[in-house]
Amino acid sequence: MSTEIAEQFSLAGRTVLVTGASSGIGAHLARVAGRAGARVILAARRVERLQQVAEDIEWEGGKALGVSLDVTDRASVEAAFDSAEAAFGVVDVVLNNAGIGNGLRPLEITEEEWRAMLATNLDGVWRVAQCAAQRLVKAERPGSIVNIASMLGLRVGNGYSHYCTAKAGVIQLTKSLALELARYRIRVNAIAPGYVATEMTDGYFDSEKGQAYLRNAVPMRRLGRLEELEGPFLLLASEAGSYMSGAVLAVDGGQLVGSL
Ligand code: NAI
Repeated sequence: MSTEIAEQFSLAGRTVLVTGASSGIGAHLARVAGRAGARVILAARRVERLQQVAEDIEWEGGKALGVSLDVTDRASVEAAFDSAEAAFGVVDVVLNNAGIGNGLRPLEITEEEWRAMLATNLDGVWRVAQCAAQRLVKAERPGSIVNIASMLGLRVGNGYSHYCTAKAGVIQLTKSLALELARYRIRVNAIAPGYVATEMTDGYFDSEKGQAYLRNAVPMRRLGRLEELEGPFLLLASEAGSYMSGAVLAVDGGQLVGSL
């Protein structure tokens, strides 16, 4: 890769905060941000699980700090950004990744279960994005917010009425913030992944049923790999995506264009 191209995708000199960095997509992309030169704030409720990710980033020559964060709690979000700023300066890039994903039937879902889904997967994304934007505007700095939505924010699936509703909200939030924050040089985009094996998918795709689903529903007939989210994330986070805002990048093996 030429130096100019590598520089475009570089996150050198940036502070990147990743929510839900203790596992899965968040832990993986936090390591990628470190490799791309960023100072990385690893934010999660399970702080003890951040230690390994932080060590990996530092072993590769990067800088990382684990902070406690519950996206459903305003005080916790503000405190995480305070710690980030004290250690590495204003957060330039946010990967809004924290989420939950339990399947529930629509006739059985309770008030508490519905609220819990919206509280984490939609309100949490809004809260973190707003907090990041307020601080960027105050510091008069440009920034990039990358929200992890889902193909289930664009289509629907059995057992996921609450999840699909929250993720559709993330997509509309992404577009609304892109519109209103552009004047502050803050870009807001989303990635809509298809299925990737993580703690959230809980081994389902190892089962015969899961394998049959992949064969039938995904044009590429396989799961996505964590590595396949690296390019989309770096594009949106770095100067390579400097004219992109309000975009929703599907990374789904073609599932969203599956034949009806
Ligand atoms: P995961 O379960 O490994 O990661 C989710 C992370 O969010 C965990 O570290 C969890 O502790 C954290 N989290 C949950 N509630 C939180 C809260 N209140 N405050 C702070 N952190 C919290 O699962 P995965 O797959 O890595 O999920 C990451 C994101 O990707 C989620 O938003 C999910 O909806 C989305 N996604 C995942 C897909 C998949 O197939 N794995 C497909 C499409 C979207």
